[in-house]
Amino acid sequence: MKEIKIGLLGLGTVASGLVNAIADTKDLLAKRNNYSLSIAGIAVRYLNATRACEVDSSILTTDTFSVVNNPDVDIVLELIGGTTLAYDLVKKALENGKAVVSANKALIAAHGEELFQLAEQNNTAIFFEAAVAGGIPIIKALKESLAGNHVTSISGILNGTCNYILTQMQENDQSFDDALQGATDLGYAEADPSLDIDGDDTAQKTAILASLAYGTWFGTDAIDIKGIRGISLSDIQYAKESGYSIKLLGSYTLNEKGAVALSTECTLVREDSMLGNVKGAFNAVELEGDLLGPGMLYGQGAGQKPTASSVFADLIEAASQFCNDTLGQQQKMIFRDKAAFISQEEQSSPFYLRLMLEDCPAVFGKVALILGNYGISMDSVNQKSEASADGVKPVVIQTHEVSVEAMNQAVAEIQASEYVHEQVVLYPIKA
Ligand code: HSE
Repeated sequence: MKEIKIGLLGLGTVASGLVNAIADTKDLLAKRNNYSLSIAGIAVRYLNATRACEVDSSILTTDTFSVVNNPDVDIVLELIGGTTLAYDLVKKALENGKAVVSANKALIAAHGEELFQLAEQNNTAIFFEAAVAGGIPIIKALKESLAGNHVTSISGILNGTCNYILTQMQENDQSFDDALQGATDLGYAEADPSLDIDGDDTAQKTAILASLAYGTWFGTDAIDIKGIRGISLSDIQYAKESGYSIKLLGSYTLNEKGAVALSTECTLVREDSMLGNVKGAFNAVELEGDLLGPGMLYGQGAGQKPTASSVFADLIEAASQFCNDTLGQQQKMIFRDKAAFISQEEQSSPFYLRLMLEDCPAVFGKVALILGNYGISMDSVNQKSEASADGVKPVVIQTHEVSVEAMNQAVAEIQASEYVHEQVVLYPIKA
């Protein structure tokens, strides 16, 4: 039986979960496959740190490059994160002809195109199932299971931390800061949680999914990134009063002309819809293909075991390809020219709008006039009774479907009015 040797970069939470999973399934794996897995080297920051898994200390090293340059290593698992050292190491591993498994969404989103090419040139492959939506097999679904479809839309809850925070605020009236602390304590948040709450993490995952769905490479610079920082309990409650939950969605749309739109923003979804029922750190990817029709994948999007589950699946796939000598023979991920983007004029949606409006005669008429001037029709208007000290009251407006461009222009004009206080809140409503 062939022994496949793994080089591990990092021994943090996910890597420890993986080492434990490999040990637990050793016998089963050997029965199912014509190979066995062994760990040849592990790069760590500190040799004497306390570990959450059992490893032979003689294979630990602080010399990260010794792992990717080790001729005995067949597959490199990159689990250190970041886009600097991890980038150099992954590049080196691919140049050395090794298969790479990475859970690093920031790395793939920033350098995916180059790394795929490098893998191809060196007759090997890079696998990254764990980079998007934790344990949900969405990468494999897009690359393989849906390969015969034109994927026309993707709407994903892709960040467990944000979804946990929004759920805690909606269901338990918890403050934003307390909910973020909870997500951090449970191990969902990034080391720098601003990557979660400012939407960058969701944007990276959206860009990766969109790239696979379309077949060209989209960076996060193609996305106007809006996160959940500053979202108020009031908006969550107002949305709930009309049957909606607010979710941070990463979205991809392909129109009939072949142009695409990408976004990462808070969106109102029906509370009783499938996305509305995705709670806590769970993730979900709702998508539509021309052959499949609508579909959804759901599961745990963050945390040690779900992420280790995807890394392990990639490792098994890489090992099988290595054994069968088929690494580097998979279909191309990037095979189309750059896409055209759908203009804001051509994009449309109903919207939720919340203004802090002076409570005096005729001001509401002025807001209605501005909306009317942009051809925006209101579906409902609701002035909330709670007033701030200076008599300013929240007014919540839901519109019918309008163009994004018209809505943005109308909001800019409303925002500039002297009777509107604070920042106007504007969220699309998912149809
Ligand atoms: N911080 C990320 C999240 C981890 O909360 O979803 C998984 O990518």
